[in-house]
Amino acid sequence: MKNKLIVALDFSRRREALKIVDNLKGLVETFKVGIQLFTSCGPKIVSEIKERDANIFLDLKFLDIPNTVEKASEAVTALDVDFFDLHLSGGKEMLRSAISGSERRARQLGKNRPRILGVTVLTSQTDNFDVVNLSMMAKENGLDGVIASGLEATEIRKKLGKDFLIFCPGIRPSWAKKNDQKRIVTPEEAIKNGADYVIVGRPITAAKNPREATERILEEMTA
Ligand code: C5P
Repeated sequence: MKNKLIVALDFSRRREALKIVDNLKGLVETFKVGIQLFTSCGPKIVSEIKERDANIFLDLKFLDIPNTVEKASEAVTALDVDFFDLHLSGGKEMLRSAISGSERRARQLGKNRPRILGVTVLTSQTDNFDVVNLSMMAKENGLDGVIASGLEATEIRKKLGKDFLIFCPGIRPSWAKKNDQKRIVTPEEAIKNGADYVIVGRPITAAKNPREATERILEEMTA
């Protein structure tokens, strides 16, 4: 289950983020850098985490006109991250532009492009959007997967098949606080419903003992 857990480094200080990465060594292989950490510390934080042998999901959730997203996707690709994402509400042309920007830069660098994911609906929102249709649009336009609540994973998996990646944030073990998240599931439910990766932030990063919380979550995922 180790390679299915992504820890969200939602910090403003470089030291706090790197402390968690070091603390979870051997337990977690992939870390998520979001807008808080990236805008506080700059792109250098990505290489500092990579130096510690970890994979990176750069979660900047692009949403803009196609040309702007294309150029930003080129830049993200040059940072050598493993995954990045965009809002599916940006539409087909924006998705295709992101892919072509990323592929162009990857070709120049002689490597594969990062996996690109679409954000369906934020797990902090309760509105009833059609997550499955959005996921179908993501697949038809060449994306590698989506980010969705574990509550929707079963249906997405059923409609989109086994090779389409499903990342589930909004994970809350029974013993953790809900915070601002609404459409939540436990680590066990997310895996059972077909998540390829579960994204966990505060239940680990705000725990008294983050390593112990991670071990507990990995156990629940295995169950
Ligand atoms: O602390 P918590 O476990 O709620 O963190 C969840 C993480 O997943 C946050 O970094 C948040 O930005 C991210 N995320 C989310 N919902 C999405 C996409 C990403 O909560 N749809």
